[in-house]
Amino acid sequence: MSSKSEQYELLARQVASLTEGETDLTANLANTAAAIHQAFGFWWTGFYLVQGEQLVLGPFQGPVACTRIPFGRGVCGTAWQRRETVIVPDVEEFPGHIACSSASRSEIVVPILRDGEVLGVLDIDSRELATFDNEDAAGLETIAAQLSSLFSSIK
Ligand code: SME
Repeated sequence: MSSKSEQYELLARQVASLTEGETDLTANLANTAAAIHQAFGFWWTGFYLVQGEQLVLGPFQGPVACTRIPFGRGVCGTAWQRRETVIVPDVEEFPGHIACSSASRSEIVVPILRDGEVLGVLDIDSRELATFDNEDAAGLETIAAQLSSLFSSIK
């Protein structure tokens, strides 16, 4: 079994090859969500995209989810507001956590940034407590940076 950082390196290469030559943002985000989800067997893996003052549900893998999240609300809206990754070891301890699924126990949200502006967030939920650490943050931030350049082609 390879280490988590090796798994993320592999994933970054996979995302690069999956998105190479494809300009459609939905297609690229959909395949990226699937690749991450399959690699680690997370409970929910997906994207919320900034539209005005809200995050709107984008491509994802897992159970149905809330469709809109206001700025500063929940873990996703907080990562948007802070413009930085938020790791939540126990969602019950995070004030304002939005429970799309009662099975979610821990969560990480990574903003997708371009020139300091948040374009969307990558949100991952786990059914276990304390699933995510700084290694996940680093690996997912690398992937978020790769994706950021794909947004520029349509914005
Ligand atoms: N828990 C998130 C909402 C999105 S779902 O986890 C898919 C939040 O608090 O922002």
